[in-house]
Amino acid sequence: MKLILLGPPGAGKGTQARRLEERYGIAQISTGDMLRAEVKADTPIGREAKAVMESGALVSDDIIIRMLSARIDQPDCVRGFILDGFPRTVPQAEALDRMLAAKNMALDAVVELEVNDAVLTDRIAGRFTCGTCGAGYHDEFKPTAKAGVCDVCGGTQFVRRADDKRETVAARLEAYHTQTAPLLPYYRAKGRLRSVDGMADIDAVTRQLVETLKDVGSAS
Ligand code: AP5
Repeated sequence: MKLILLGPPGAGKGTQARRLEERYGIAQISTGDMLRAEVKADTPIGREAKAVMESGALVSDDIIIRMLSARIDQPDCVRGFILDGFPRTVPQAEALDRMLAAKNMALDAVVELEVNDAVLTDRIAGRFTCGTCGAGYHDEFKPTAKAGVCDVCGGTQFVRRADDKRETVAARLEAYHTQTAPLLPYYRAKGRLRSVDGMADIDAVTRQLVETLKDVGSAS
């Protein structure tokens, strides 16, 4: 199954993509995570991306498309993948169409997580992850079972993203509405777009996604 999860910052793309990865045994590909790894490793891409990401703007299509093309050639993508945070512009979507055609692959679905802007800042500002295993949490909506201890690995170090400050979130939302939202009519016109209610709680969104994907690719 080859799938795109679309939605604004904080819509729950990463949260749900990790669950779908586990359920269907397909790779989660987050261009945001890939860029953060480049920044951490202080690579040339990371150095170019760092300031752009911290401002809330989008990294250049060229860099992203090259990164993504190399990523879907990896062996863990043979059974399929979930694109989380890509494409984010119409040129990225067009490049993806060309890339998949050249690799003899086709998209099975594009699923939009529909969420009101009003909840996004709170979702993002409350987010933190385990510094050891990367498990994601939220101060209010998904706290650790025991305060200060990761439920998954027992780690006690947690990190918050540099672009999760309230003032940067406004710029990220603006980038979403001007540059990424045009992908909705793009995929709707191709008959690919499905939508789920991303305002529901995390488990309910997963149930809706599984239901929506029932008739897609090799989903079961
Ligand atoms: P990226 O890392 O992709 O961030 P984003 O799209 O802004 O999305 P987020 O990761 O903030 O949110 P999410 O939808 O994954 O939500 P999550 O599941 O974490 O991109 C970061 C930056 O990298 C960009 O700004 C850009 O600069 C650059 N970039 C990346 N890709 C690019 C590309 N293709 N082109 C150009 N530039 C690119 O959930 C958020 C919080 O809410 C969590 O704490 C979670 O626990 C909670 N939550 C989730 N679902 C629910 C729910 N249903 N109810 C209550 N709480 C919930």
